Amino acid sequence: MTVGALRIDPAAHLQGHVAVPGDKSISHRAVLLGAIGEGETRITGFGRSADTEATVAAMRTLGAEIAEESVDELVVAGVGLRALRGGAVDCANAGTLMRLLAGIACGQPNVTTLSGDESLSARPMERIAEPLRLLGARITTTNGHAPLTIEGTDTLKGITYELPVASAQVKSAVLLAGLYASGQSTVVEPTPTRDHTELMLESAGIAVRRGPTSITVQQASGLRLGEVAVPGDFSSAAPLLVAAALVPGSDLTVHDVGLNPRRTGLLDVLERMGAHIAVFNRRRAGREQVGDVQIQYSELAAVEVLPREVPSLVDELPLVALLASHARGRSVVRGAEELRVKESNRIEAVTDGLRAFGAHIRSRDDGWTITGVPARLRGGRIEARGDHRIAMLGAVAGLASREGVEIQGAGSVGVSFPGFFELLDSVVRR
Ligand code: S3P
Repeated sequence: MTVGALRIDPAAHLQGHVAVPGDKSISHRAVLLGAIGEGETRITGFGRSADTEATVAAMRTLGAEIAEESVDELVVAGVGLRALRGGAVDCANAGTLMRLLAGIACGQPNVTTLSGDESLSARPMERIAEPLRLLGARITTTNGHAPLTIEGTDTLKGITYELPVASAQVKSAVLLAGLYASGQSTVVEPTPTRDHTELMLESAGIAVRRGPTSITVQQASGLRLGEVAVPGDFSSAAPLLVAAALVPGSDLTVHDVGLNPRRTGLLDVLERMGAHIAVFNRRRAGREQVGDVQIQYSELAAVEVLPREVPSLVDELPLVALLASHARGRSVVRGAEELRVKESNRIEAVTDGLRAFGAHIRSRDDGWTITGVPARLRGGRIEARGDHRIAMLGAVAGLASREGVEIQGAGSVGVSFPGFFELLDSVVRR
């Protein structure tokens, strides 16, 4: 893994065919559900990263045996729904691990504590603690943050919970706790968020009832996943696709990438901006959609991103700000206040970073206003703030710049995509 500062020089263009590592959200979920499942779960295409390795370590701490057959193939021996051991789990930087595991821990016959690194310890945790308490869980936060202490119980009762924030992590925590709750548990989500948990629960034999804005699960007696083939991570493909959209003469194809429609809002935004995109080989991996995405450079026009579409591109919004900085006209991103509580405050990190490169960007409480210029930005320096998505933003900005970008803390890409710089290098022509 690259650590410290890294210089990214301007690219002449990007060219080629690549595949990216397995989806992080799906990899976390496969290990978590595999560990509380019956029998063995074989996970292929596992997206190995610091975040997903934290999940493997966590479930080993709690008693699951996990064999690593190769870098991207794991076999998880499930202990069953209510047989995790309890103990102290370090979730490192992984918000998905902490929030989903909290839901599972509520139904275990012992005490689990969940802690995280400095960034994760600054992120809001009452958003899961509150609904889990409504189910009857005994969970304490530390002034609303990690460390969390969860004293498991077998007296959870189903609830109907309307999400106050559009969050797949909160939705998933409630649904997973719902597996342990008597009766049925329903989550109402006013804005659709990624549905990997629902799809994987269905694959594991759980009856999931899905309405237009609601998801209901019943108390479960067991689940069995068997096999999970993890598609490439759309969020890891995104920086490559955006770099190709921005650098004249580029033509890049990313193969075998997850195309769950609740993750691919970036493709809709790119299309509205006038990018040349084609999707081929649409197919399924289990219940997830997969395909190949080709993108070629073209001139871009300004775009408006609406609150309703934010969850479908939430992790790609820093890249959207970069696209907008190069697009003719005034772009606005609204309804993205959640970015303030990600691995860093991404609204401010992006504004400071892109402005230092010469972009005309202003923060709003809930996003940005950006006046784009269809020309290369100057470039400069960006501080990753320990945030993998900001480090990747710096790299893409560097390729599309006149003078290059120096990324401070470039090693943080390892949180989701340890081989990012090497893969990028393989398609960049200078
Ligand atoms: C994730 C959901 C999103 C996303 C995160 C992964 C998941 O967070 O930003 O990177 O795997 O469920 P929220 O659901 O909290 O917005």
